Amino acid sequence: MKSLIDILDLTTQELDELIATAQDIIANPAKYATSCHGKKLATLFFEPSTRTRMSFEAAMYELGGNVISVTGAGTSSAAKGESVADTAKTVSCYTDIIAIRHPKEGAAYVTAKNATVPVINAGDGGHCHPTQTLADLLTIYREKGRLNNMTIGVCGDLKFGRTVHSLINAMSRYDNIKFILISPEELQVPTYVTKDVLEQKGIPYVQTTDLEAVMPELDILYMTRVQRERFFNEEDYLRLKDSYILNMDKLKNAKPDLSILHPLPRVNEISVAVDDDPRACYFKQVLNGKYMRMALILKLLKEAGQL
Ligand code: NCD
Repeated sequence: MKSLIDILDLTTQELDELIATAQDIIANPAKYATSCHGKKLATLFFEPSTRTRMSFEAAMYELGGNVISVTGAGTSSAAKGESVADTAKTVSCYTDIIAIRHPKEGAAYVTAKNATVPVINAGDGGHCHPTQTLADLLTIYREKGRLNNMTIGVCGDLKFGRTVHSLINAMSRYDNIKFILISPEELQVPTYVTKDVLEQKGIPYVQTTDLEAVMPELDILYMTRVQRERFFNEEDYLRLKDSYILNMDKLKNAKPDLSILHPLPRVNEISVAVDDDPRACYFKQVLNGKYMRMALILKLLKEAGQL
């Protein structure tokens, strides 16, 4: 059973095919309006979400399918102590595909091991978030017309930011990519990403604390929120939360064709004045996420023999 737990579960060719399907959905939505007729998606969200859950649900409805859901750890039998494995076996009886978000790293993997339907990781703790990366890739592709030959700045909480880990893994597959990793020293990318991905593949990267100094080099600037819920104490969060606030002044030396991305939610790491700049792509990124999730649901249900 094919599931999507880590972005590396998909080959580069599969990523390219998902982008092509999403673009066809954008061009011909009516062609897909009944593709998932009679099928159900279960969204199991044990952590807060606006975009990811709603875009999965909107995606399934726009494919003509139906949705059943659990929102919030307190409203399901998880609150009574049910294991992730038992939940997976149970939910498999009701649905054709599962999207799960969980605060524990590895929970989506355990779900996939125990489910009898395809499972999509919608974020597992501070580990990874492959479908946000699908949204990011389509956004970069639509803005730049390519996924290679670029310098990508990733800024903010690179330690706990799961979207960052998946994005670096995905982009490290494409040619001539350079990463500039901008964060406070305490919030640097984990070594399982720098050593095991970037260094292993010989991908150039620098780590810095200074966003403005590197701004002129960037083709993509991927801003992130400081992940309050993953901190061990509130004091550290309060000290680090405003490390980077992107405003128009900080963009004065940026390339005219820079693309600014953010997985959202924004707290205050991008000033609202930036929203009107044509380089701001984060709300387009939200919409792109829905199209990529439509493409992914179609792919996984087809591979499971359901379509
Ligand atoms: C991200 C997440 O949940 O990891 N949000 C999202 O899914 N778009 C980023 C975040 O919460 O900061």
